[in-house]
Amino acid sequence: MTVSPVKAADERPTEETGPAEPSVGPGVLKRLAASWPRRATIRTDMNRVSSPEAYDPELLDYPVHLLPFAEHPAFLAASEEKRRQVNTLAWIAYNERVIAAEEYVANPTFEKLAHGVFPGVDRYEVKEAVQQSHVDEVWHTYMHMIAMQRTREARAIGSEPDYVQPVTNRALYELAGQASEQWEKDLLYLLWTAVGEISINAFLDLLGDDRTIQPLHTLIARLHARDEAAHGPILAELMKEIYPRLNKRQQEFFIQHLPTAVTTFGAEDYELWPQILRFAGIPRVTEIIEDTRRQPGGDLMLTDFRTVHRLVQELEIEDRVDFDFRVLRAGGSR
Ligand SMILES: [Fe+2]
Ligand SMILES: [Fe+2]
Repeated sequence: MTVSPVKAADERPTEETGPAEPSVGPGVLKRLAASWPRRATIRTDMNRVSSPEAYDPELLDYPVHLLPFAEHPAFLAASEEKRRQVNTLAWIAYNERVIAAEEYVANPTFEKLAHGVFPGVDRYEVKEAVQQSHVDEVWHTYMHMIAMQRTREARAIGSEPDYVQPVTNRALYELAGQASEQWEKDLLYLLWTAVGEISINAFLDLLGDDRTIQPLHTLIARLHARDEAAHGPILAELMKEIYPRLNKRQQEFFIQHLPTAVTTFGAEDYELWPQILRFAGIPRVTEIIEDTRRQPGGDLMLTDFRTVHRLVQELEIEDRVDFDFRVLRAGGSR
């Protein structure tokens, strides 16, 4: 079995130093399950989240550089008030994307894992890690709900767009809707969860270190990332248990859809952005969106999928996955 030189999540000193990359090796699940009581944010940091420090109205809610249209002249020409509204709605939508990934993709998959839908999940330490991760995810949803509500109160948000389901979920629903067999649907959910769980820290880190936004927002992202630093190796270990036990057809199906799971996880959401811009009353939305999409790399919010690449190598399927991880990595995340 391959042993990664990277430190495991439970060996990190604090969440403030940022999440560790997934580490795999013998006994990882046992070790992560044993460390959960002192590591899980629901056990250690609930008070910090539910009694947050004061909101600073001068600080932004969302990093400007993460708005893909931030430099577009038509957006810059809009009033400060409208641009601030877009900024706040972008933060709320970011939380909605995280929650939707947990509620509609990860949690149903953790249930399937707990209910024996997939092979290789029989040992106690495997089941224990699945249950702990599921508990974490439900808590994450609650944590992000608190953050959103705090924002709505502080910014006196009276109404919001009816946010679309995020781009990652839409792609999954479409493929699952086309699948005729239940095992295909189950594997799609497992694939989306595996890619999501081992990649989500790249998404959370976009905010975790940012100094231009509310400290509460960065705290939520860092706490969430600390749990996910354990979920990454857990899902990698789970996939190493499950994948070899799938039959040939199932393995082919998994390999075939892996590239879509990766690109949609990192995708900019071009159904969401026009919704937010129009809601805030920004003029020339169609032009802003079309110009933004035409920019090189305009379709991707994340380009760092080293963790998925490592998993693909460990499953020994790299030569069969139609995806060039090196190209994405060259750009890094924005
Ligand atoms: Fe989570
Ligand atoms: Fe997770």
